[in-house]
Amino acid sequence: MSKSAEIYRKNLPFYYPIVGDIPPSRAARFLAKAFRKEDRSRLTVVDAGCGEGRDTLFLLREGFHVIALDASERNLKVLSQKSIEANIASGMLECRIADLAKKIPIGDSEVDALLDVWVLGPIILRYDGKAGAIRYLKEVYRVLKLGGLFVSEFETLIPNLSSEELKKYFANLVKGFFSIITLESIETDYVHYLAIQNLHRIEENSAILAITQKEDIRRGVKKYPKLSKTPSFDPSRGS
Ligand SMILES: C[S@@+](CC[C@H](N)C(=O)[O-])C[C@H]1O[C@@H](n2cnc3c(N)ncnc32)[C@H](O)[C@@H]1O
Repeated sequence: MSKSAEIYRKNLPFYYPIVGDIPPSRAARFLAKAFRKEDRSRLTVVDAGCGEGRDTLFLLREGFHVIALDASERNLKVLSQKSIEANIASGMLECRIADLAKKIPIGDSEVDALLDVWVLGPIILRYDGKAGAIRYLKEVYRVLKLGGLFVSEFETLIPNLSSEELKKYFANLVKGFFSIITLESIETDYVHYLAIQNLHRIEENSAILAITQKEDIRRGVKKYPKLSKTPSFDPSRGS
């Protein structure tokens, strides 16, 4: 088991009473708008490190089929219960225990988009190092369909990294796997936990929203299937 999964598999009682019901992330709203409503029920989206599922529930309400992954069984139980209370049709949500720094429990090229909010940057990089992060990105690449989207809300605990440096850091990390569609600075007001004993307030502008797409690196050519993406990724528009 990876270090991050080991830490987060334990209950983190301080965190979810604070953030369990905060609004969906910018990344999730961005992702939803990338696909036409009429296509969504046929598309599979993964919420990697879903927590109690604020984004999973949003994506389900937006009409996607969602596979929610987390190291914590407790989180997945809470999410399942919330989806029942929200009258989500059975079959639209699958919850799977996962250790993302080791393996994503999904077959090759099955996924249209993968959402990563506050997992790769503050957790996997921190606890499993760059090797763990690369392993995870290779797994993300494997499970995505060609042309599929990897959408990440990303920050790291490397101190004093400016937004521009953060963008470069991210671009370097995904180089060779994904082509970058958008990297933008975002603000966040919420307290996120990194460990029980270490509640941490993310500074304004210390995060980026990254929209990337799986390209065919084997042949060195960009050959995308026809995605039902809307042409604009403007997150300020309603979905
Ligand atoms: C900071 S929370 C973010 C939760 C959610 N994405 C959100 O934005 O509300 C990180 C989540 O990743 C999960 N996690 C941490 N390490 C993991 C790993 N190696 N594999 C799977 N999940 C992991 C934790 O259990 C936790 O639910």
